[in-house]
Amino acid sequence: MTIYIQAEEQVQRNTGQIRLYGPEAFEGMRKASQLTARCLDELVTMVKPGTPTEKIDDFVLEFGLDHGAMPATLNYRGYRKSCCTSKNEVVCHGIPDRKPLREGDIVNIDVTYVLDGWHGDSSRMYPVGRIKPFARKLLEVTQDCLMKGIEVVRPGVKTGAIGQAIQTHAEAHRYSVVRDFCGHGVGQLFHDAPNILHYGRDSEGIEMREGMIFTIEPMINMGRPHVRVLGDGWTAITADRKLTAQYEHTVGVTKNGCEIFTRSPAGLDRPGLDDPS
Ligand code: MF3
Ligand code: CO
Ligand code: CO
Repeated sequence: MTIYIQAEEQVQRNTGQIRLYGPEAFEGMRKASQLTARCLDELVTMVKPGTPTEKIDDFVLEFGLDHGAMPATLNYRGYRKSCCTSKNEVVCHGIPDRKPLREGDIVNIDVTYVLDGWHGDSSRMYPVGRIKPFARKLLEVTQDCLMKGIEVVRPGVKTGAIGQAIQTHAEAHRYSVVRDFCGHGVGQLFHDAPNILHYGRDSEGIEMREGMIFTIEPMINMGRPHVRVLGDGWTAITADRKLTAQYEHTVGVTKNGCEIFTRSPAGLDRPGLDDPS
């Protein structure tokens, strides 16, 4: 890893303006995102009772380095790990540690690789061994929320339509949508404009245009939507300690819809949900 960068390659800060990207950017995002997806695929066999989340983190770092990529979270705003591992009542930003995963846990693994300057950001839920039917239901509905949000993406539609689709589906199942975290523009910056809310109305937000690139990453709670951040400054948990789930894709707006950059090449976008229970 070089510590020097050409000044003209330096990407501007998040200025609030919304970047519209062309074909080369889409190709860069495809490559970075597919590496992230392949890593999340590899993790399927590693997530089982007894595996410490730190071992997952080690794998994410190694796999990235082996393929010329860096985990974007490493040293991001003081964060010291290569991924986030958010278990059970942890909404997001769970820090990998030495504690072993236990049968019945549900864990979100969120990976962002930077490859040739482009960020591919994605997360999936992984059941640990056999999980309870109510946990499985939460995962299914949350995955459906993500896909329903993605389905409305196309030029001319407002970003609020994504939130409306997600909120409507979550609340139909008596779940709640976390308000404190949202999706985000992504590209050469990890977190860029616009914010993508996972709740709201289709008359809200900004109009989507071809070439926009952002994440959709709904966090859906079994209980109330409120979250609390622990003393480590990162770990966000549900205030009522009930179960929560999240899935995330990075997408690019195309002429007629969108391209899901982080889709699993192995068909493992919903680990554990497609095999019989
Ligand atoms: N990958 C997360 C996201 O989806 C961000 C994690 S930032 C970290 O936006 F510092 F907590 F790792
Ligand atoms: Co994200
Ligand atoms: Co992420």
